[in-house]
Formats: sequence, C-alpha cells, structure tokens
Amino acid sequence: MDQKNSIKPATYHFGDTTTQYYFDSAFQKLKEIVNPTSTIIITDENLFNAHTKKFKGWNTIVLKPGEAYKVQATVDTVIEQMIGMEADRKTTLVGVGGGVITDMTGYIASVYMRGISFGFVPTSVLGLVDASIGGKNGIDVGVYKNMVGIIRQPSFILHDMLFLNTLPQSEWENGFAEIIKHSCIKDARMFAELETGSLKTYQRKKNDFCDLVRRNALIKIKVVQKDQFEQGDRKLLNFGHTLGHALENQYELSHGQAISIGMTYASHISNVLCGFKDTKRVVALLEKYGLPTYASFDKKAVLEVLKMDKKRVRKEMNFVVLEKIGKGTVRPIPLSQLEEMITAL
Ligand SMILES: NC(=O)c1ccc[n+]([C@@H]2O[C@H](COP(=O)([O-])OP(=O)(O)OC[C@H]3O[C@@H](n4cnc5c(N)ncnc54)[C@H](O)[C@@H]3O)[C@@H](O)[C@H]2O)c1
Ligand SMILES: [Zn+2]
Repeated sequence: MDQKNSIKPATYHFGDTTTQYYFDSAFQKLKEIVNPTSTIIITDENLFNAHTKKFKGWNTIVLKPGEAYKVQATVDTVIEQMIGMEADRKTTLVGVGGGVITDMTGYIASVYMRGISFGFVPTSVLGLVDASIGGKNGIDVGVYKNMVGIIRQPSFILHDMLFLNTLPQSEWENGFAEIIKHSCIKDARMFAELETGSLKTYQRKKNDFCDLVRRNALIKIKVVQKDQFEQGDRKLLNFGHTLGHALENQYELSHGQAISIGMTYASHISNVLCGFKDTKRVVALLEKYGLPTYASFDKKAVLEVLKMDKKRVRKEMNFVVLEKIGKGTVRPIPLSQLEEMITAL
C-alpha cells in the first residue's frame, strides 16, 4: 500500500478488547477496513437520502430516523432483514449515523448469533464526541431510556467530517451540550476556549473543530478505559443526565437540550453540596451555544421517572456535581434530599 493511501488508526484498549480509531478520515476508507461483501451497513433515511452515493456498493438497511425508533420493534425488523440477507458470524455490522443508529447497531451486533463484530461511522456531533464511544449499546423501553442494553466495544470507529455538511443546526447545538459537559467535568482549558469561540467559528474553522472532536473523544476514551463498567470515574459522564434523562422522555426535548437543563440545575445543586461558584458561567456558555437552561417542568412527574434512574442505588442517588469548572465529582445523595432540592429550585 503506498504511503498516501495507508490508513493509520489509533488503537485504544478497553479491558481485553481494542478499538481502532480513524480520526479525521474518509468514508471511502471503510472498504479498506471491512469487506463490503460480508458487511451490512445500518443507517437512517436522513443519512441515506443526503449521501446516497456513499452507500453505493454496500449492503444497507435503512431505518426511520429518530429516538422513537430506538426500540425492540426496530431491532426485530433489522434482525429479520439480516436473516434474509444471510448474515452469519463472519458478518460485520457498521452503524452510519447519529447516536440512535450506533446505539442500536452495537446492540443488534451484540445479540445477533450471540455476537458479531461491529464498527461505527458517527455522523452527528453528539455521535462523534460521545455516543459512539465507550461501548454502551441499547434501546429504550417506554419512557425509560437505554433500559435494555449491553456494554461491548466496537472494533473500529471512523470519522468523516464531510457528513456534517448536512447536519441540521439544531443537531450541532445538541452535540455541543456533550462537549460543554466534558469541559465542565474534566477540562477547564477547553471550557475557557469554548467561552471565547462560538458554534459559528467551529463550523467555519474545520481544523479547530477536528481538534475539538478529537480532544473530546479522548476525554471520553480515557474515562471509559479507566472504568468501563461504571464503578467510578465513568459516572462523571452523567453530569446533567440524571435530571436530563427524566426530562427528555417527559417533554419533547432533544438529548442535548435535556442535559443542558440538567446541567443548569446540577450546577445549582453543586453550589448547595460543595460550594460551586460558577453556575453563571456554565449557564452563559450553554446559552451561547443555543441551549436551553432554566425551564419550568412538572417536578412531581419528573421525580417519579428519576426514581427509576439506573444511577439509583436503593434510597440513594449517585449525583454528579462540580467542585469547580473542570472538576466533576460523584456524591451519593439520599433520594429524599434530592427531592427536596429539586422541589426548592
Ligand atoms: N452509547 C452512549 O454512550 C451514548 C451517549 C450519548 C448519547 N447516546 C444516545 O445517542 C442518541 C442521540 O444521538 P444523536 O443526537 O446523534 O441523535 P440521532 O441519531 O437521532 O441523530 C439526530 C438527527 O440527526 C440526523 N443526522 C445525523 N447525522 C446527520 C448528518 N450527517 N446529516 C443529516 N442528518 C443527520 C439523524 O437522522 C437524526 O434525525 C440518544 O439515543 C442517546 O441515548 C448514547
Ligand atoms: Zn448524553
């Protein structure tokens, strides 16, 4: 292979598995990673219609877009189609899409014939910096998000920023919520950079954006490498998510919008629990990137959903708070105290 066409992935180990990362790569490289005849791509109608040419020559299953389809019924239809396509243990599944597609692809690949290999081509900002990383795969059950799933790492992840040319503005905002989250819990310098920059500058300066994506991916990769099964550090990634998830399925909110509101209130709770002083800066940054912060919601109904949260251990909830910008920490809070604090907000 000549130098120009060689592809050099970065390899990251997660327990005894490895994932190859092709940062800032191109979709055409996919055929050098997997054999098209033994590969099935799973994508959604938005991606397929906007990038039809890219899928030429690939076996493709096209799903309806949206969180509402991240359910067992979709999994069943995909599995039926895979059986029809004679997929076997040597088949590789490749999810090309946002977090909904990659979460489902990883789940389907993990249960089909007790597990086949899979890879991701994340096409949304949220997918690039978050959903594709870390091996959490799964589906929703009713209002309960990600209630059923499995932790299993993809064998590769390939980034092609050209997909982002068709990503709607609202989805850019959605993804930046997770970028802001990473900066809040782990990277004060990135937080300050985000304060100086804007969505527009990142959309215009492709190199800055690529750099931001890689640094965010690395934040998550490192956290997951240390704690794949969420015994410690990985819990930090749930900053804003406890309340966020409860809001997401009660109201018509995107994931990013819901966790943005979640981070706003989690900052206030951080102030009560550990004297966090920078709630205003967090709120200003979220608003700068077009995200909602203060919202009125039915506290009683949201608290009911909250009690079913996976982070709850009996009568305590592991809640992520900020000590300062760039330093998140997990505090067990009795449910009764959390209820009081949320009601008082
Ligand atoms: N596994 C994890 O660790 C993890 C982490 C965070 C979020 N998630 C999950 O990810 C999901 C949210 O991901 P998402 O925000 O990417 O949502 P999504 O997959 O629904 O994508 C958002 C929308 O953008 C469209 N889209 C995506 N890329 C596009 C492109 N390049 N051009 C045009 N349209 C495009 C999709 O069709 C969809 O309509 C949620 O289900 C959430 O639970 C998982
Ligand atoms: Zn999230």
